[in-house]
Amino acid sequence: TIRSIHAREILDSRGNPTVEAEVTLACGAMGRAASPSGASTGVHEALELRDGVIGRYNGKGVQRPVSLINGEIRDALTGLDAGGQQAVDEALIRLDGTANKENLGANSTLAVSMAVARAAAAAAGRRLWEYLGDPTEPLLPVPAMNILNGGVHANWQGPDFQEYMIAPYGAPTFAEALRWGAEIYHALKTLLKEKGYSTGVGDEGGFAPAVSSNTEPLDLIVAAIERAGYRPGQEIGIALDPASSSFYTDGAYELRTEGLTLDAAGMVDRYRELADTYPIVSIEDGLAEDDWDGWKLLNDAIGDRVELVGDDLFVTNVNRIERGIREGTANAVLIKPNQIGTVTETIAAVRLAHKNSWGAMVSHRSGETVDTFIADFTVAMRTGHLKAGAPARGERVEKYNQLLRIEEEAGNAARYAGRKGFIR
Ligand code: PGA
Ligand code: ZN
Repeated sequence: TIRSIHAREILDSRGNPTVEAEVTLACGAMGRAASPSGASTGVHEALELRDGVIGRYNGKGVQRPVSLINGEIRDALTGLDAGGQQAVDEALIRLDGTANKENLGANSTLAVSMAVARAAAAAAGRRLWEYLGDPTEPLLPVPAMNILNGGVHANWQGPDFQEYMIAPYGAPTFAEALRWGAEIYHALKTLLKEKGYSTGVGDEGGFAPAVSSNTEPLDLIVAAIERAGYRPGQEIGIALDPASSSFYTDGAYELRTEGLTLDAAGMVDRYRELADTYPIVSIEDGLAEDDWDGWKLLNDAIGDRVELVGDDLFVTNVNRIERGIREGTANAVLIKPNQIGTVTETIAAVRLAHKNSWGAMVSHRSGETVDTFIADFTVAMRTGHLKAGAPARGERVEKYNQLLRIEEEAGNAARYAGRKGFIR
């Protein structure tokens, strides 16, 4: 039974405030969790509640959501059984009373929801990944490591595309995949230095060189993979997140780096070419968040060989995912718990995707804390892949380190997803 709930304002990896919640049960077990925060947020995401008080953290304070947790949320949840995650989350949803968590904010509901799961797992004497899933079948994900950052995650002259990720699916274990990824990351650093590029990093730990096109990073990454001694396409795939909503206005995709403006059909041609030329296993948000027709074009063109992941398009929302499934808009969903605001609704989004043979890729946000909930969640839900940034910056690395611990804890039961982690 939930005895008390307490929240506080802490900082995220960008130096902005975020919400941390602690849930204590009558038996003494405690769970703590913190909400992350995006920069290229989708317009259809659940609301992130901020104070808007100018002169305090540039309006980004979270004293209001913290006081909601320490007041009405605590009052509503005290006495509930923490082991009944769904009932607890339904109580949060009812208390909020809106479709988009506009009253409580998804940053307050998610922190509490995750902390409840942690407390319940502790009370049951189980690890979080065991508690959330079937402990006999832990599936370790292929890590999609974002080693080159652009777009709004690198606010200087980088590529228009936001994320260039490597996916070491050919490794035998998660631990080896992580090693391969880290070695490629360092090979890329050496290569960038040789070419006279900056090796400063962006929000997710990837390098942010001032390249002159959106394809140059792909050439650099292929070279880095080879230099580290691995085979592009056989052992290592490339995943892209152009986050195209951030360079889209009124039907036009503006590739500033290349001085080019394309319509949806032009973007689809571009992606087809990229998929023909590079070992691309996945493209996320290739088209903008409301460009359903453009998405359909892309899915018809390359959906049979590339995983096409909707992030801003679906925002972890079952209603939008259902539309995508009905219309054949994509073949995978990005899963960000704070886009929807509770653990139960996040699980529902994964299940809906899986039931329809779609991929579900679990994701961090560009503003993170050291909270590792998504690592355990990915293993428990058997999603086969997750993205948590570069193998650098503490808040990114901590997710990968947690997966190392889980692989060790799971022992002989552990399986590494490998190439099948990407649905196509
Ligand atoms: P965000 O970016 O966390 O800044 O929204 C991540 C993504 O677009 O996948
Ligand atoms: Zn994205």
